[in-house]
Amino acid sequence: MLISLLLLSVGGSSFAKLYENVADLPSLEYDFLIVGGGAAGNVVANRLTEDPNFSVLVLEAGTAHEEISIVPFLVGNLLGAPNQFEWNYSTTPQVGLNNRTMTYPRARILGGCTAHNGMLYTRGSAEDYDRWAAITGDSGWSWNNLLPYFFKNEKWVPPANNHDTRGQFNPAFHSTHGINSVSLSGSQWPVFENQVIQTTRELPEEFPFNEDFNSGEPLGLGWLQSTIGGGKRSSSARSYLAPEFIQRPNLHVLLNAQVSRLVGPKTERGLVSFEAVEFMQGGALFNVTARKEVILSAGPVGTPTILMHSGIGDRHKLSALGINTILDLPSVGQNATDHAVLIISWSVNSSQTIDNIQDNTTLFNEAFAEWNSSHTGPFTNIPVTHVLFTRVDDNSTVFENVADPAAGPKTPHIEIYFSTGSGPLPQHFITFGLLLVSPTSRGSISLASSDPFDPPLIDPGLLASPVDLALAREALKKALRFVQAPIWENYIIAPTVDLSNLTTDELDAFIQSTAGSAGHIVSTAAMSAGNATYGVVNPDLLVKGASGLSVIDASVMPIIPSAHTQAATYAIAERGADLVKGRWQ
Ligand SMILES: Cc1cc2nc3c(=O)[nH]c(=O)nc-3n(C[C@H](O)[C@H](O)[C@H](O)COP(=O)(O)OP(=O)(O)OC[C@H]3O[C@@H](n4cnc5c(N)ncnc54)[C@H](O)[C@@H]3O)c2cc1C
Ligand SMILES: *[C@@H]1O[C@H](CO)[C@@H](O)[C@H](O)[C@H]1NC(C)=O
Ligand SMILES: *[C@@H]1O[C@H](CO)[C@@H](O)[C@H](O)[C@H]1NC(C)=O
Ligand SMILES: *[C@@H]1O[C@H](CO)[C@@H](O)[C@H](O)[C@H]1NC(C)=O
Ligand SMILES: *[C@@H]1O[C@H](CO)[C@@H](O)[C@H](O)[C@H]1NC(C)=O
Ligand SMILES: *[C@@H]1O[C@H](CO)[C@@H](O)[C@H](O)[C@H]1NC(C)=O
Ligand SMILES: *[C@@H]1O[C@H](CO)[C@@H](O)[C@H](O)[C@H]1NC(C)=O
Ligand SMILES: *[C@@H]1O[C@H](CO)[C@@H](O)[C@H](O)[C@H]1NC(C)=O
Ligand SMILES: *[C@@H]1O[C@H](CO)[C@@H](O)[C@H](O)[C@H]1NC(C)=O
Ligand SMILES: *[C@@H]1O[C@H](CO)[C@@H](O)[C@H](O)[C@H]1NC(C)=O
Ligand SMILES: *[C@@H]1O[C@H](CO)[C@@H](O)[C@H](O)[C@H]1NC(C)=O
Ligand SMILES: *[C@@H]1O[C@H](CO)[C@@H](O)[C@H](O)[C@H]1NC(C)=O
Repeated sequence: MLISLLLLSVGGSSFAKLYENVADLPSLEYDFLIVGGGAAGNVVANRLTEDPNFSVLVLEAGTAHEEISIVPFLVGNLLGAPNQFEWNYSTTPQVGLNNRTMTYPRARILGGCTAHNGMLYTRGSAEDYDRWAAITGDSGWSWNNLLPYFFKNEKWVPPANNHDTRGQFNPAFHSTHGINSVSLSGSQWPVFENQVIQTTRELPEEFPFNEDFNSGEPLGLGWLQSTIGGGKRSSSARSYLAPEFIQRPNLHVLLNAQVSRLVGPKTERGLVSFEAVEFMQGGALFNVTARKEVILSAGPVGTPTILMHSGIGDRHKLSALGINTILDLPSVGQNATDHAVLIISWSVNSSQTIDNIQDNTTLFNEAFAEWNSSHTGPFTNIPVTHVLFTRVDDNSTVFENVADPAAGPKTPHIEIYFSTGSGPLPQHFITFGLLLVSPTSRGSISLASSDPFDPPLIDPGLLASPVDLALAREALKKALRFVQAPIWENYIIAPTVDLSNLTTDELDAFIQSTAGSAGHIVSTAAMSAGNATYGVVNPDLLVKGASGLSVIDASVMPIIPSAHTQAATYAIAERGADLVKGRWQ
């Protein structure tokens, strides 16, 4: 992937009501303050301002430069190295990964991680959400009751090349009336696609075809769906803050505004509330107040960080840093969960791979020019063609001594996404990405100091548990069995790293030295039942023990879904906005 920043002169969005300077803001008092303009924050801002009686201010630490990331093929551009649209985080040493620390991308830009993520659109299993409902005691979080919210978010659109999509998705599980575009791929790699689809015919028992993995029953292999419309990335900023919405007089967005904490705590009828939200802009601190509710949507890293700096967290840990405890909620920052990812590749006897485009400047420029002039061609999507969701074999010994972490028998443990490319030319390559989508490992977000502008300590806990290491071995074995289908015989030349005859210890060494994060951290301000002895928010997303303070973002997921996390985050935000409206209308 190219890691240089490509500043495009195309597709630039000229938003009206985006304020860069606090001095230009018409007011420092709103009905609702939304902290963070990411996946969830922009949904909530849009939905609340449907009511002209509600005034809303979004405070976003980053800037608005959506045009820098709208070319789907260049998805990696903002991820490789520190850049001005990033928080530039690193993890703590990962015990499950030989104590490696690694960079931990989080976007600092309007749109949040939907402005730089991989755009894969996967919801997870119905069982994932039914488990949320069981944990929280609120049937509103079940699959059947959340499906209308997935539909409010999703705007299914034709792929950029208008190819015949029959048999590639099931329209019954999609909505054409939502706000955020979702589509099948806008360009094809017929040779590789045939390899993958043919495998589902040659090994149908282990790798069945699934027409639509977003039906609630994801097991099997299906065609990639992405948050892309018209060949362009559909981020929450480009969709939920599109000109028709941002022009609402009751919706204001302040950029370059990093929230430090909630200030001015008081207790009334046993509930804590805060007078104001403090933020920094241009080196100075400001306060802004909410008449009705402060909604934290700063994401699974930002939200628990703000809570702890506000005195909401584990009393012992806060006092060790000299922070006065306002609300003793030990679960803040705990139970952080992410998906580990492993990459494996093979050289192949086919020139139809993206190596050509990535490595050959002439072809790269041609493809770029095509996208630039008509939003067609290979730049309209990421190089992935299909996604497989699968379980470890029923006779596997992995769960001999531990409970199966998946939400149920129709929920995957392993995802494999299929892609061409890896370079360098003149060879050609294919690449599989393996994700552990039902992990048992847990990590944490904690504070390094009492300074709200210090980065927090980020421990995604990748492969920290031995079960997850065993699951990673199973994932590799699955991938190797996939390419045992006859169709691969004359296509694969050689693996980049030969794993076929490795001992368990050798496989573990490979896993621990190469695994990374999928960027799917969640659950750091988790929802639990109203009477639970743990958890951070109640099923209505209000912070336990507080009034006028809620969390609406990926932090609240009770358990990670067996899928990439943006679709689940969007559904939470759509329902969360309804819950807020229900409280105040
Ligand atoms: C590299 C990467 C790739 C990914 N790929 C995919 C994918 O292909 N498919 C998928 O479904 N999911 C993917 N995800 C995950 C998905 O993007 C996230 O789960 C989702 O964006 C989380 O939404 P959120 O609203 O909780 O947080 P975010 O989208 O991260 O938004 C949080 C916002 O809050 C702002 N903020 C934070 N702190 C403060 C503060 N103190 N003051 C003011 N503003 C603040 C941030 O700048 C940001 O804009 C990926 C994530 C990453 C990192
Ligand atoms: C806005 O407020 C007015 C007066 O309080 C009320 O009559 C009206 O119904 C409200 N509008 C909405 C959309 O709630
Ligand atoms: C991240 O690094 C880039 C490049 O060094 C810098 O411009 C940017 O300000 C940094 N981001 C933060 C939040 O410090
Ligand atoms: C990782 O660090 C921990 C704690 O410092 C230590 O106990 C462990 O031996 C280290 N593991 C490796 C593989 O170095
Ligand atoms: C913000 O409010 C707090 C609590 O009332 C106060 O202590 C602080 O001085 C205020 N900060 C600014 C910049 O006004
Ligand atoms: C973590 O989540 C589990 C449920 O999945 C819960 O039992 C436990 O109490 C949580 N731990 C904390 C510290 O919140
Ligand atoms: C590639 O395939 C062609 C025929 O399809 C064959 O002649 C050639 O030997 C193969 N090359 C490799 C490296 O396997
Ligand atoms: C790049 O592609 C062009 C156009 O197909 C071709 O002429 C050229 O030889 C290729 N260059 C390399 C280095 O492969
Ligand atoms: C994209 O098109 C614009 C004109 O519409 C042109 O100025 C720009 O150079 C083009 N960029 C690329 C990378 O082709
Ligand atoms: C599990 O069953 C499969 C066939 O279904 C077999 O190939 C494999 O060896 C078995 N594994 C174990 C651990 O028994
Ligand atoms: C792996 O082992 C099998 C069976 O022992 C053998 O046929 C094969 O050649 C070995 N492969 C490699 C790459 O060593
Ligand atoms: C919470 O309420 C549920 C349902 O009434 C009950 O089954 C459970 O035992 C209660 N839990 C606690 C910790 O009180």
